[in-house]
Order: sequence, then C-alpha cells, then structure tokens
Amino acid sequence: MQSLFVQADSLRQEHVGDQVHLRGLIEISNNCRRNCLYCGIRTENRNVERYRLSKEEILGAAQKAVDFQYGSVVLQAGEDGGIETDWMTDIIREIKKLGLAITLSLGERDDRDFQIWRKAGADRYLLRFETSNPKLFAAIHPPLPNREPVDRIAMLHRLRSFGYEIGSGVMIGIPGQTFLDLAQDIALFQTIPLDMIGCGPYLPHPQTPLGQVATFSQAELREKYGLPEISPEDQVPATAEMAFKVIALARITCPKANIPCTTAVATIDAKEGRKLGLQRGANVVMPNLTPIKYRKLYEIYPNKAAIYLTAEQTHESVLQSLREIGRIPGQGRGDSAAMLERRQNSF
Ligand code: 5AD
Repeated sequence: MQSLFVQADSLRQEHVGDQVHLRGLIEISNNCRRNCLYCGIRTENRNVERYRLSKEEILGAAQKAVDFQYGSVVLQAGEDGGIETDWMTDIIREIKKLGLAITLSLGERDDRDFQIWRKAGADRYLLRFETSNPKLFAAIHPPLPNREPVDRIAMLHRLRSFGYEIGSGVMIGIPGQTFLDLAQDIALFQTIPLDMIGCGPYLPHPQTPLGQVATFSQAELREKYGLPEISPEDQVPATAEMAFKVIALARITCPKANIPCTTAVATIDAKEGRKLGLQRGANVVMPNLTPIKYRKLYEIYPNKAAIYLTAEQTHESVLQSLREIGRIPGQGRGDSAAMLERRQNSF
C-alpha cells in the first residue's frame, strides 16, 4: 500500500505539479426528478426541504470564488427540471464576466442544453457513471418513468464532442459492487479518457432504500431492487482506505487528469482525509461556497463535511491543510493537462 501511494504521489508531482486547484462548489438546487437508491435528495425522499438558489445568490457565491482567487466554480444540482435552459444560459454568461472557468454538474440533460451552455461559456461537465457494471447501475439509478435507460458513457463522449472537458467517476463500496467491477471502472477512466476523475466512498443515507441495509437483508434488497448477487468476499468495502487506493490507481492510470479529493473522502475521514487524498494522487479540492442556510439541505449523504462552516471558514481550513502538507493553491483556471496533451498529439 505504501509503495502504491508513493508512486501515485510522485506521478502527481511529475505530471500536474504541487499546485492544488480550488474549485468553488455551488449547490444550486436540491430538486431532483430521479430516484437513485443511494441518494438522500432522491425525489421520493419527502423529508427534504427543497430549494433552488436565485440568480443573485449564485452570482454572490461566484463572487466569493473570485475574492478567494479560485480559478473556477462548479455549479451542481439534482436533476432539476425547473433549471430552465435560458435561465442557466444567462447565469453562465454572467459568471463568465467574472473571469472564472465554469464546470456544470446538472445530471442528464438534452444535447441541446449541453450545446447551448457550451456556447454560452461553460467549460467543463461532470457526470459520474457511478459504476461501469450495467446491471448494478440500472438497479441503483432507475430510468425515469416511461423512458429508456441513458448510457452515461455515450453522453460523456458527446459532451467531449461539444467541446467540454469531461469529468466522471464512481462511488466506492456500493452494495453489490465487486472488486472486478471497480477494476473495470478504473480501466474505463483511462479508455474514455477522462480529464477529471472524482471518486468517493459510498455513504449510506438512512432515508434511502440502499441505506436501509440495517432493516432489509441483502437478499431482500436483491429481490426488491435487482441488485446483482455477489459473494460477500467480492464486495468492495466502502472505506477510506479503498477510496485512497482508487485515487492512487486513477493517478497511475491517468497521470495528467485533474483528480479531486472529494467531500465524501473528507467526510469518511474527517481528520486526515483531505490531506491524505492530496498526498495519494489528488490535485484538486472543491471548497463549498453554497450559502450556509442551504448547506444542510443538500444532503446526498449524512454528516457531510463542513456544512456548518461559512465559505470564509472553509477557505481558511483548505489553505491550512495545504500549508500542512507543503502544497500551494493553484494559479489560473486549472485546465486539464490531459486535454492539452491530447490537443498537442492531434496536431
Ligand atoms: N454516498 C456517496 N456518494 C454519493 N453520491 C450521491 N449519493 C451518495 C452517497 N449516499 C455521489 C454520486 C453523485 C455525486 C454528486 O455524489 O456519485 O454522482
């Protein structure tokens, strides 16, 4: 394990350097039309108070990113049908005036939206494929009523063809996920290939079907939701250690990718997670800029790190972590070295 982590850290330094790019995360809406078995903001969770930020609130949060000298913001939401194409286009244009790169993470949308938003100035799109095992994916991410399941890998390729930098990733330790599945996930990062790779441990949310493992038996879950049947020794554990292994292997297989140490990693190991991730292959952190009164409502899993900290406090704590491990905040937009390299090779 130690040699794996050392190799990942040295490849990180060689290919993307000591800068840690900071992306300001703005959770713009917790409305979601989907019913993913793992996610706390799934549509059927009626205990969630729903919100959508106003344009002014989003621009206020983006201004903080400028004040803190972040190069980019990530606009993330549940799959919210109320996020209208033109409303989003207008916000993208306004944020671009601030000089920030923009990453969208708004779930599965029509190609038309992707193209319009790209033209308006959106630079990057994040869409995790969650697991490359089609049977497991279909079980945990049911299609919309009366719709065909969407192929997220194909969607990522289309996003790339529209000119986006593309990011994806998986959850680690989903019930029913085997080590072979996870190995294939990592191989897929490289073959797509991804510019950005975000992974974190699966964290059970009590108000979701998958989070009910304590009450339902594994057999009942399989029966009810079609989870694949696997033997217990094949089940990937949802641990910090596994998450670090995946980060390290992602760096080794995709040395030029931008790899965040995700909030889920900082949550499962609240004390050291962020720093250890950055020392085992990661080169990006996404400090949360969502206005504090909405933070606790974006509860995709419980006990999310830093929900009671202001943007200023989060910012300070990230800078402190960087100082403790001898790394420096990134300069500029933090574009993907992977993308630049591909461009060069194609000329
Ligand atoms: N545990 C860990 N990660 C989760 N996500 C959603 N719900 C959970 C959970 N319970 C992740 C998914 C999604 C990302 C935004 O958050 O991978 O793509």
